[in-house]
Amino acid sequence: MKMEEHEKPCTQTKKECRSITFLILFQFLFSLVIVFYVQSFTLDSSFHPSSSPKAIFPQCKTEAGAWNQTKVIDALVDKLKQSVTFLPLKDLRFSESAMTGNTWFMSSLNDTLEENEAEHLYFPSEASQGRLLCLKGRDTRDGTKNSYALAWKESLPESAILLEGLTFISDTYFNHDNLWHGVSAAAPFVRWSMKNGCSRPSRWVLFHWGELRHKMGSWLGHLMQINYGDVKVEGFDKGDGPYCFEKALVMRHDTGAMGAESKLKAFDLLRCKARKFCGFNQVRRGIEVNERGLPLIKFTLLMRRGSRSFKNATAVREIFAKACAAVEGCQFDVVQSEDLSFCDQVLVMSKSDVVASPHGAQLTNMFFMDRNSSIMEFFPKGWLEHAGMGQYAHHWLANMSGMKHRGAWWDQNGQECPNPKDELQCFFFHKDGQVGHNKTYFTEWAKKVLHEVRQEKLEEATKRQVDDDRQLTTKACAC
Ligand SMILES: *[C@@H]1O[C@H](CO)[C@@H](O)[C@H](O)[C@H]1NC(C)=O
Ligand SMILES: *[C@@H]1O[C@H](CO)[C@@H](O)[C@H](O)[C@H]1NC(C)=O
Ligand SMILES: *[C@@H]1O[C@H](CO)[C@@H](O)[C@H](O)[C@H]1NC(C)=O
Ligand SMILES: *[C@@H]1O[C@H](CO)[C@@H](O)[C@H](O)[C@H]1NC(C)=O
Ligand SMILES: *[C@@H]1O[C@H](CO)[C@@H](O)[C@H](O)[C@H]1NC(C)=O
Ligand SMILES: *[C@@H]1O[C@H](CO)[C@@H](O)[C@H](O)[C@H]1NC(C)=O
Repeated sequence: MKMEEHEKPCTQTKKECRSITFLILFQFLFSLVIVFYVQSFTLDSSFHPSSSPKAIFPQCKTEAGAWNQTKVIDALVDKLKQSVTFLPLKDLRFSESAMTGNTWFMSSLNDTLEENEAEHLYFPSEASQGRLLCLKGRDTRDGTKNSYALAWKESLPESAILLEGLTFISDTYFNHDNLWHGVSAAAPFVRWSMKNGCSRPSRWVLFHWGELRHKMGSWLGHLMQINYGDVKVEGFDKGDGPYCFEKALVMRHDTGAMGAESKLKAFDLLRCKARKFCGFNQVRRGIEVNERGLPLIKFTLLMRRGSRSFKNATAVREIFAKACAAVEGCQFDVVQSEDLSFCDQVLVMSKSDVVASPHGAQLTNMFFMDRNSSIMEFFPKGWLEHAGMGQYAHHWLANMSGMKHRGAWWDQNGQECPNPKDELQCFFFHKDGQVGHNKTYFTEWAKKVLHEVRQEKLEEATKRQVDDDRQLTTKACAC
């Protein structure tokens, strides 16, 4: 078999000029076809003629009877193009386990596992045999109508559009709008890029259950912009595709298998970048002291309006103001969360040691506080009994971002739901309830928390005399 002509196509049109790797691959495939053909013929003379290269590529013989290699390669590429198979992005066979185990998103592909890191898929990679990821469809209501396939760069499906650079593809069971869910979906990308040369994406592609989403919520948008600059959320506006990605990173388990250290590092980076962007130029506030040399403790009561606001905000404010005033060095502040811009949220949290707030998305900002800062959380009546695991979201976030969740208060008073046996109906009844107060309990609780925080600050102050790495220098953030 003669292959010495393989450089020849490169002297012809650019289209025919293929990379060396590619040629080697096809020479290999071509040899296989020939070897297979010859062997089959020798071993079994009844071998079906349609499997012979002559039958597969009858058009590839020259008049002299030799193989025209350029033609054979083109024919092979054509076959590879046509064999690219698109599968539905959302696989209904896995609808029962969509949140656990095997996700329904790209169900035929196995995650790459690295110890203590989030499961992910990367294309092209060894796991994808060098193939790129392609997507087709842009349905926003039915994930089974969108599909994915793998293809080699040299044989992308007909009329595919190649999107250059690195693409971050996120599928979440929840959404990219809510602060808590948004940061849970984004954290593994942040961590991956820290581990991979601080690489930035050229675009995001967002999915929920395989349904395309055109934007992330504005809070998450800000957070990501601070980390990666202006990055478009791909809407596939040139039609249904297929679109293939030069490089793609897919995350579909939110924080998934990320270990404690990895989560802390991701949130450390998010804190560092946000503080820097918002003009708060300390990585860590460290110990601030009053004129008597005793540590200052900043206590912030973070309020909500409407659902889950306090029934009597004045009373609650008075209780905590008094509790704070009883501790030397404690400084009290009340902040209305809805009135804060993104950077105001970052700044309020950066300056607080203790944040007391009703359950709600505003608490997601907790990771902008110094590590080891404290959270106190309040729930309306009915949550403890009917809200399920989700009510512990801020306990988990505190754990992930290195904060101390100092407990929650579940209001026991208020209207009973009409049908206490119906969990879901009851949850909806109580979901937007307001939070009452218990003066005795709140006073004792605040006293205990402030005492512990003070004690920790005193201990830390003796340990850390010189605090020279606090300033937010250009090198401070890991990326
Ligand atoms: C092989 O095929 C190419 C493209 O079809 C053609 O340009 C070329 O002349 C052929 N070469 C030979 C030796 O027949
Ligand atoms: C994915 O993993 C399962 C279980 O380990 C294995 O049976 C299957 O062949 C793998 N699939 C691919 C495409 O690698
Ligand atoms: C709210 O609490 C304040 C202070 O404890 C009290 O004076 C006021 O009457 C209460 N308001 C309502 C509507 O109960
Ligand atoms: C957080 O507090 C613990 C003790 O509760 C201490 O060991 C640790 O060093 C603190 N971490 C930071 C970052 O200050
Ligand atoms: C989070 O919780 C786990 C298990 O309860 C614990 O081992 C870990 O130390 C916690 N991490 C932080 C930062 O508090
Ligand atoms: C308020 O809290 C105190 C202290 O925990 C408790 O003894 C008391 O029963 C509570 N009052 C109400 C009305 O729940």
